[in-house]
Amino acid sequence: MSELRLTARQTADFELLANGGFAPVEGFQGHAAWETVTESMRLPDSRPWPIPVTLPSETGEVGETLTLIGHEGTRLGTLVVEEVYERDLQREAQQVYRTTDDSHPGVAALYREGSRTLAGPIQADALPSHIDAVAPYVMTPDQTRAAFAERGWSTVVGFQTRNPIHRAHEYLTKAALEIVDGLFIHPIVGETKDDDIPAGTRMRCYEVLIEHYYPAERVLLGINPAAMRYAGPREAIFHALVRANYGCTHFIVGRDHAGVGDWYGTYDAQKIFEEFEPGELGIEPLRFEHAFWCKISGGMATTKTSPSGPEDRVFLSGTKVREMLGRGERPPQEFTRPEVADVLIDAYAGEPAPV
Ligand code: ADX
Repeated sequence: MSELRLTARQTADFELLANGGFAPVEGFQGHAAWETVTESMRLPDSRPWPIPVTLPSETGEVGETLTLIGHEGTRLGTLVVEEVYERDLQREAQQVYRTTDDSHPGVAALYREGSRTLAGPIQADALPSHIDAVAPYVMTPDQTRAAFAERGWSTVVGFQTRNPIHRAHEYLTKAALEIVDGLFIHPIVGETKDDDIPAGTRMRCYEVLIEHYYPAERVLLGINPAAMRYAGPREAIFHALVRANYGCTHFIVGRDHAGVGDWYGTYDAQKIFEEFEPGELGIEPLRFEHAFWCKISGGMATTKTSPSGPEDRVFLSGTKVREMLGRGERPPQEFTRPEVADVLIDAYAGEPAPV
């Protein structure tokens, strides 16, 4: 049997296909599904699905059964190749990312993968392994649903992040926690941009933050193996559907969710939820405005809750913090908790300044 070595991104997709995180999608999608998903954010049977799940490969022929080897080198299962097709990458880029410009990191990744694509059902014999810092937090959707039920949570808000949890993130999660039973912190640990903070470091940030600043019995930390696409609005829908599969009833969507640079409007990722019927996604978005440190009230706030003018607001981005860390500076407490800053300072000690 021929072998196919999956990329990191494909390995992550395999895990989510295998564990039910991508339900109702169960295999790498064929041309018919690619077409409807790309064009209208729907599967051929019209259920919502916003980003194609594809397996680009230069090898593999129709009728073959391929042994799938994960990025980390272990045998994961098999794929029966039912279809080989060419994707129109420019069209996928335009529809999914709203641009064909390869300076967008998601578009660049799409172009790198190439257009020849295999499709078919998978058989999963094993799930991919994860680095030590991440491994204790790997849970399948069945396991998280059981964990929520065990805690007696009937409403659970999912929180997507690719960053350490800074004060703005903490504000959103706690505001949400006021109206639901439990918080599921579900960081993405798949491929991210080179200048994003690596998953291992982030897991330590989540641990210290939960230990010091959250009620332990109302929070669960798990990981989402997916790669970041940086597809902004479409990825917000994608993120929400995956969290519904993990058992969440609500999902936080803040400012420029899953965005990068200036590709998307601040609230585009919230507006896109209006394109679906109420209840259709099986999860309720909780929309939050851009949060900042308000000097007048001495706490986090948004324009909805703060009397401040622009001069009283401290906005800090992840990019600015990474720049500070690169210069060996401590991010201020208005931006990040000191325990989280310590983890980041340790991680960045001796590193070249990020660009
Ligand atoms: S993302 O790519 O996963 O969206 P990030 O980890 O920064 O990036 O954001 C996680 C969630 O918090 C997203 O829903 C995002 O919109 C939200 N968010 C991040 N920073 C802010 C902020 N300052 N104000 C409001 N929402 C924010």
